Amino acid sequence: MTNITTLKSKIILGNWKMNMSREEVKTFFRDFLNLGPISEDTTIGLAVPAPYFSLVSDILNNSNYGILTGSQNVHWEKQGAHTGEISGQMLIDCNVNFSLVAHSERRTHYGETNHSASKRIKSCLGNNLVGVLCVGETREEYESNKTEAVLDTQVRESLDSLQESDTANLVIAYEPVWAIGTGLSATPNEAEQAHITIRKILKDLFPQTEHIPIIYGGSVNEKNATELLKVESINGFLVGGASLKAESFATICKA
Ligand code: PGA
Repeated sequence: MTNITTLKSKIILGNWKMNMSREEVKTFFRDFLNLGPISEDTTIGLAVPAPYFSLVSDILNNSNYGILTGSQNVHWEKQGAHTGEISGQMLIDCNVNFSLVAHSERRTHYGETNHSASKRIKSCLGNNLVGVLCVGETREEYESNKTEAVLDTQVRESLDSLQESDTANLVIAYEPVWAIGTGLSATPNEAEQAHITIRKILKDLFPQTEHIPIIYGGSVNEKNATELLKVESINGFLVGGASLKAESFATICKA
């Protein structure tokens, strides 16, 4: 199964949210896989709607690309009376490699908290799934200079269930809420500051662990990807809207 130690130096993940039909999924991969190889040091993954797990993993297992299949959420219990939830074991059973945790849309619209994030991320790592913890400040917090304080609370509380030895499959996605789906990306400098803040918190929490990847998300597109990736502290992207089109996503993966 996937282990972050097998992830390459750059990680580009797509988040399809609640989009795509079966036919569109097939067309996406036919086009994407025809757009030619991506650099060997880039890990690519797509967090797809759960009904398409098997379709996507079948297509990907028959390709030579090593693209990871991802879920948009994961529950901490193995099984039971949790209508609408998916367990880590089920994801593994469906050949899923990673899961997003506490995406801002889950926090804003479905009441997810740092406390539930902590249980979800532990479930990922305990099931040998790569767990992608999403954090980021709202516009109001950004405008009142609270970004650092917000990240500090989110990262510490969402990771409070983990021991240092659990972190091998952990990825952090910094996604300022004001940049998600707005066309208004953070500048390379803003993203860099936030990534440096997160890196310091991780160092404090897990002093022995060298490299937990920190990726940036929020209106990443073909035009801004190259500039953002020049920032040393940005280890890749979580891409929403631009991951729905094979050509745009391929261009970002090749940036
Ligand atoms: P966006 O979404 O790229 O459309 O801004 C990013 C995300 O929600 O992960």
